[in-house]
This record gives sequence, structure tokens and C-alpha cells, in this order.
Amino acid sequence: MSTLVEIKNLEKHFPVGKTGIFGKHKSLLKAVNNVSFTIKKGENLGLVGESGSGKTTLGRTLIHLIEPTRGEVLFNTGENKIDIAKLRRGELRYQWRNMQMIFQDPYASLNQRMTVRDIIGEPLVANKLASGDELNEKIKNMAVLCGLKTSQLSRYPHAFSGGQRQRIAIARALIMHPQFIVCDEAVSALDVSIQAQILNLLKDLRHELDLTYLFVAHDLSAVAYACDRVAVMYLGRIVEMAVTEELYYKPKHPYTEALMSAIPPDDPEVTMQKLFVQGEQPSPVNPPTGCPFHPRCKFADNSRCVKELPELREVSPEHFAACHYAESLSLKGALQFQVKQRKTTNNKQVEYLNTKRKEIMAKL
Ligand SMILES: Nc1ncnc2c1ncn2[C@@H]1O[C@H](COP(=O)(O)OP(=O)(O)OP(=O)(O)O)[C@@H](O)[C@H]1O
Ligand code: SF4
Ligand SMILES: [Mg+2]
Repeated sequence: MSTLVEIKNLEKHFPVGKTGIFGKHKSLLKAVNNVSFTIKKGENLGLVGESGSGKTTLGRTLIHLIEPTRGEVLFNTGENKIDIAKLRRGELRYQWRNMQMIFQDPYASLNQRMTVRDIIGEPLVANKLASGDELNEKIKNMAVLCGLKTSQLSRYPHAFSGGQRQRIAIARALIMHPQFIVCDEAVSALDVSIQAQILNLLKDLRHELDLTYLFVAHDLSAVAYACDRVAVMYLGRIVEMAVTEELYYKPKHPYTEALMSAIPPDDPEVTMQKLFVQGEQPSPVNPPTGCPFHPRCKFADNSRCVKELPELREVSPEHFAACHYAESLSLKGALQFQVKQRKTTNNKQVEYLNTKRKEIMAKL
């Protein structure tokens, strides 16, 4: 698979705290801190991590919805590589045809005073890409592709359920046929059954329209279901990244292990032996020295872990981890935390995990 986006040393700092005598803010909050990774063309890359770890800021900085502090975001258009981080407004507006974002709350992101037809078609009108019958045809085709009925196009967003509103938001995001979509908690606000429908829609659209996703989510079951690879974020940094099954069943970073132990089982007869990570996530204004995870890590030593920042490095083929001892730690994967299990036939996500577990265990 070729690379669609290459992120190099990307940073986003927010000035915070009181201003000093020279009018400068006293502190910087490093929401995204020296992040480098690649997104492959056609993949769905999951981005997980606890609240405040920097996922939304990374997603927004990546497509330059907010100004990066430094770093490069090289977008492969097929003809050349464009550094999105360096583009100015006019050029950015043009490149945004290629990259779009879908948000958690479709109600807030849709203009309540516009009809669904106008909402979906607005990017084409604003960019003067279609009008008249051609515009109508494009809107109808995209609405149907996203599971909406053409009879619904003259209604307003308030007449729709949460799942349908997200379909409208997706149709609008895809109307200009972008290559890359950042989905920021796009299914988090929906009921579980509706979540599954939207996840399946995103999956179908990916194949149909040749899309690449960065899928930001709290819900690790949804990520397991939807994503090919997963990156784990902690305190503004990527601390682990691997193919989904590998990351879930053979994590190499103690923080990922703790996340895996906390996946809520959908089956009431299954309980998890949750690993409790000591303490709170430190402030990104004053991150710890050495490994940012060391104050909470049960494996931390007083020499390397406290003093030396572990780089994100390839510890086995295509598996990256930012831990000095990634190769020698013996960590548990998601299903090793389940203490009681019963076959579930009505939940696709749990079924998927169980099938994958068997496949992986057979290979080990
Ligand atoms: N505009 C801003 N000004 C100052 N600090 C900000 C701003 N936006 C985000 N932050 C801070 O940056 C850090 C990362 O926030 P971000 O919203 O990216 O996290 P997140 O991983 O998306 O969290 P969640 O899972 O809750 O959505 C947090 O400490 C947050 O308070
Ligand atoms: S480098 Fe040390 S503190 Fe950091 S995750 Fe690894 S063992 Fe824990
Ligand atoms: Mg967020």
C-alpha cells in the first residue's frame, strides 16, 4: 500500500496561563508533541487514547483546520507531495476538497436553517463546481449512497434522528470526492445499534469511493471492528502503532496494555480484570521528564525511564512502540483480561473479536 499522508515532527502548542510583562503567555500546552507517522492509502487508521491526550488536536492540525506550531504533513496527491502544514488560506481551501472532517455531533455541525439538499450541496456551490441539474443529480446520488431517501432532501436537520443526521454530515463531507477523511468520534454519540450501521456505512463507502480514514475514537470495540491499524496517543505523543489484531492481542507498551484491559465487554456474562493505571494523566503543560508515562508505569525504573525519552521505534515488523523495554516486557492482550466468556450470537463486534482471537492464537 502506498503512503497517502506522511506526518513529520508535527507539533501544536497552545499558549496558556497569565501573560507576563512582555505580553507573552507564561506556559505552553503541548497538545501534539513531535508526532511522526504515516497513513497508508486506502486504510482506516484508528487513533485512541484517554480524554485530553491530543487526538482531536492532532486530527485538526493534520488537515490544517488549526495552525500547526511546526512540522510537516506531506499529502500525496498522486502527482506530487504537498505540505499541508505550510499552505496559506487560498491554497488550503483548494486542498480541502481532498480532505474532510466528520464530527461527533452532527446536530452542531449542520446548519439547522438549510434543507438537507442545500447542506449536502453547499461545498459544490461554494467552490463553483456544479449548478442546476448537475448539482441536483450529484446531491441525489451522494444522499442515496449514504442511505438517505431522495424524498428527504427538502427537509431540515431537526426532522432527522441522530444516525440519519450523521448520514447527512457524511454525504456533505464526501460530495467533493475527497481522498482523506478524519472521523472525530463520528459514532460516539449514537446508540450501539445505530453505531454499527454508521460503521458499516463508512466501511462500504471506503471501498466504494477509495477513501482513507483517520478514525478517532474512545470506543476500542468500534476501533477493533472498523480499523486496519491503530495508533495509541498519550500526552500529545504516539506511544504505539500496529496492525489492529497485533496491537490488541500483543501490545508492546504498558499504556496500551492498560487500555486493552478496560474494553467494556458487551456480554453481561463477561467481566474484565481491569488493570488500574496509578494516578492521573499529567498536565501537557508540565509533562514528566524521560518517558511521559513513567509516573504511572509499573515497570518504570529510576534510570532510563525517568531520564530518557523513548523514541517511537519499530520493535517488530510494522509494530512501533515508544518504550525502552518494549521487547522484554511480557504484556497481556485484550482477550487475556476476560475472565468468563459465553458465545454471543447477536453482537457483531464481540463476534469479530472472538474470531480474530482464534485466528491469532492459532498463529502463535
Ligand atoms: N484551543 C485550545 N486552547 C488551549 N488548550 C487546548 C485547546 N484545544 C485543546 N486544548 C488542550 O489540548 C489537550 C488535548 O486536547 P484534545 O481535545 O485534542 O484531546 P482529545 O484526546 O481529543 O480528548 P477527548 O477524548 O476528550 O476528545 C487538552 O489538554 C486540551 O485541554
Ligand atoms: S519506557 Fe519505562 S516508564 Fe515508559 S512505558 Fe516503558 S517501562 Fe514504562
Ligand atoms: Mg477529542
